[in-house]
Amino acid sequence: MKMHRTPDFSRRDMLKVTGAVAALSALPITTRIVEAADSQKMKIGIIGSGHVGSALGGVWAKAGNEVMFSSRNLDNDKKLAGEVGANARAGTPQEAASFGQVILLAVPYSAFPELVKSLGDSLKGKVVINASNPFPQRDGGIADQAREQGAGVFDAHLLPGAFIVRAFNAVPAALMASAHEDPGKIGMPIAGDKKAIELASRLVRQAGFEPVVVGGLDMGKYLMPGTPLAGEHTPEELRSIAATLKP
Ligand SMILES: NC(=O)c1ccc[n+]([C@@H]2O[C@H](COP(=O)([O-])OP(=O)(O)OC[C@H]3O[C@@H](n4cnc5c(N)ncnc54)[C@H](OP(=O)(O)O)[C@@H]3O)[C@@H](O)[C@H]2O)c1
Repeated sequence: MKMHRTPDFSRRDMLKVTGAVAALSALPITTRIVEAADSQKMKIGIIGSGHVGSALGGVWAKAGNEVMFSSRNLDNDKKLAGEVGANARAGTPQEAASFGQVILLAVPYSAFPELVKSLGDSLKGKVVINASNPFPQRDGGIADQAREQGAGVFDAHLLPGAFIVRAFNAVPAALMASAHEDPGKIGMPIAGDKKAIELASRLVRQAGFEPVVVGGLDMGKYLMPGTPLAGEHTPEELRSIAATLKP
């Protein structure tokens, strides 16, 4: 299978834009993203340490990043961190949000109202990868709203000021744990904020998938199970499918 690089934003372009903005306003938000982009090893706060959070956290820790697992059960998270080993620790969701340069959200969508309230402003200015999906049968009314507005657009309403990328939404968690063993073969559709795409792409690659950027948050509605992008596809297949989708 032929490997392609994704049509993501060039690092030079990103640094040009972020550099100009920083010079004008010295915003800590921009600085944080550039710092994270410059660092080969990232600090990753994992909120939701079930099937998805534990699989990705384990792989990212193995790749040399520092991860903090969190949920509402600190004892479980401590146990998980102990199993993962040296690069892993456990904390509360608030601690994981402060710890991470990048945050992974992997919770049932129904958890968001309570979670967002408890996190306050701590995700503002951070890159947030949202693997969580809205399922009306499981998550109730909030999932209907997210589906009506589109999951990416709705994520942005839920987490104002965060730089959101939807990714890891529609492949099984077991594959997230194993794809790095044969990297680059399976594509991972991602959609979201331009400022966050480069960092998210790096973490997608570390997990063994080839990122395929399908667009901004308006395309986030396709980043969930049951859409043509869902399931296991090669990067080439994903690019062909993405070309047929409308914002
Ligand atoms: N499983 C898959 O193959 C798969 C694939 C792609 C995407 N997804 C999506 O990813 C999300 C997570 O799926 P999963 O299979 O990993 O679920 P899971 O195994 O049930 O794990 C959910 C995690 O979220 C935590 N959690 C729940 N409510 C919380 C809250 N209010 N604050 C903090 N943590 C909370 C849970 O721990 P506590 O209840 O102890 O807090 C648990 O650690 C879902 O939205 C799912 O649709 C799943």
